[in-house]
Amino acid sequence: MSITPAAKGRITPDDIRAAKGAAPIACLTAYTTPMAKLVDRSCDVLLVGDSLGMVLHGLPSTLGVTLEMMILHGQAAARGSQRACLVVDMPFGSYEESPEQAFRNAARLMRETGCQAVKLEGGAHMAETIRFLVARGIPVMGHVGLTPQAVNTLGGYRVQGRGQAGTRVMDDALAVAEAGAFSVVLEKLPAALGRRITEALPVPTIGIGAGVDCDGQILVIDDMLGLFADFRPRFVKRYAELGGDAAQAIQAYADEVRSRAFPAPEHAFSDSPQDSKAQDSKG
Ligand code: KIV
Repeated sequence: MSITPAAKGRITPDDIRAAKGAAPIACLTAYTTPMAKLVDRSCDVLLVGDSLGMVLHGLPSTLGVTLEMMILHGQAAARGSQRACLVVDMPFGSYEESPEQAFRNAARLMRETGCQAVKLEGGAHMAETIRFLVARGIPVMGHVGLTPQAVNTLGGYRVQGRGQAGTRVMDDALAVAEAGAFSVVLEKLPAALGRRITEALPVPTIGIGAGVDCDGQILVIDDMLGLFADFRPRFVKRYAELGGDAAQAIQAYADEVRSRAFPAPEHAFSDSPQDSKAQDSKG
């Protein structure tokens, strides 16, 4: 069952907050208008994640993603959606310096994309910034555990919060929620820790590799559709193999061009003005 917006229009950050303990929250990333249209039909939250740097732009990590890239893709996703709560990631370097820097860039993201909320990575050390943004009208989704923008200080993309380290992740999640985040992404944590944090937080947790007990789940769309094949994290379930299907289709096209099987007569135009097939609207 999906979330019903309290008012006409999009699901709001408040609707997401109120879904705690009710129906599980279905979230996916999308970065383009056609994908946003598909996600909007079925999901409650549409995240324009900075994962777009890796899956769309071929960057080695999310560190090279800029505010301008997030705005461009945020605008594209906004044009393709009308129901899901639209959240846009704040990219590395756009919010960590000070609450004022974060406000300036988050306000730009909201103004130029029409998104309803921003997401930023970090635990207790980002609480002051989250409080500053929320007090000034910017809903914030938090993100703790594995925070990919900190890959260089975390020493890789490994599971976070095992053993004693779980206390720090719990404290981070509590601090972010207490600062006013309307939901918190939990990335790559032991499932038992995901459950404990979900029980402790007053706002929904959105898991990605954090077990089945989170209040919602999120995946990167290119991962779950089999479009991104450079590597495959264990927490990803492939619901389709579109990359393989696309490769086969492209090979078939190239073969048919070379054998002159394409274009066939039905794809060509005659010289006759009576040729009604020449009246099609595109191309
Ligand atoms: O950038 C992203 O897509 C994300 C989600 C995977 C949570 O942060």
